[in-house]
Amino acid sequence: MRKSNLRFGIILSLIASVSILLAHNFTDFKTTNKKAKESGSIISAKANITDTSSEAFDKMMSVLTHKRCVNCHPSGDRPRQGEDSHIHRFEVQRGADNHGTPALRCNTCHQNENNNYSGVPGAPDWALAPIEMAWEGLSRVEIARSMLNPASNGGRNLEQIVEHLTEHELVLWAWEPGVDSEGNPREKPPVPKEEYIAAVKEWAEAGAHIPEE
Ligand code: HEC
Ligand code: HEC
Repeated sequence: MRKSNLRFGIILSLIASVSILLAHNFTDFKTTNKKAKESGSIISAKANITDTSSEAFDKMMSVLTHKRCVNCHPSGDRPRQGEDSHIHRFEVQRGADNHGTPALRCNTCHQNENNNYSGVPGAPDWALAPIEMAWEGLSRVEIARSMLNPASNGGRNLEQIVEHLTEHELVLWAWEPGVDSEGNPREKPPVPKEEYIAAVKEWAEAGAHIPEE
């Protein structure tokens, strides 16, 4: 009788500890499962943000790499012209202040507005982008890095870059490029202006992420 009581007791406590173990493992399993689910949804939310931000980046860069921008952001001391980005005619040079040489200033010909009779494009303060802002020959990623680097972007922070990209008259001129000296309309950037502005803001708000090459 005493022996069987003891056995019964042992069995009972075995059952108890097994069920405690089981219950414990089960809660463990539930929490890890929940955690996995949560981190899964964080990962997919992140993936979504990266997707839309890299889509916005692509849109923005299809504008920045367009000749309407790069003709004025050349790597040498001569502006470029036209759809084939040929060297600017009339021996035009950058000059010390990016506004031409003392003998031949940009504003001798370039006024505050396009001149659609002569085909000279125009916007306020028409000048060549400084040499450290040269984008010609750079990849999209290199342009983006240069644009965000205060050493090569005129000491601007992200907010100022966004402002420049979305409001500056020389930038916005690209969507009102007028006609060339033969009367042919200049090609506009591949993304409509409002869509480009929205893409720049979306990309910046998502952290101004530059993808790997
Ligand atoms: C008529 C010449 C001209 C055209 C066209 C032009 N830029 Fe510029 N860009 C400049 C000049 C000049 C500066 C320097 C202005 C300053 O620092 O105040 C500049 C500076 C910039 C900067 C700031 C510096 C940097 O590297 O981050 C950005 C961004 C920029 N341009 C973007 C563009 C984009 C985008 C286009 C086309 C949609 C464009 N530009 C078309 C002349 C031009
Ligand atoms: C002697 C007059 C003259 C001077 C000076 C001059 N330009 Fe021009 N520029 C023109 C004419 C004309 C065109 C239009 C050519 C065409 O498209 O057929 C032009 C076109 C351009 C374009 C081409 C825009 C595009 O995307 O096709 C850029 C960029 C440019 N000039 C920059 C400059 C800069 C910067 C300076 C000063 C360093 C300057 N120009 C000085 C006459 C001049």
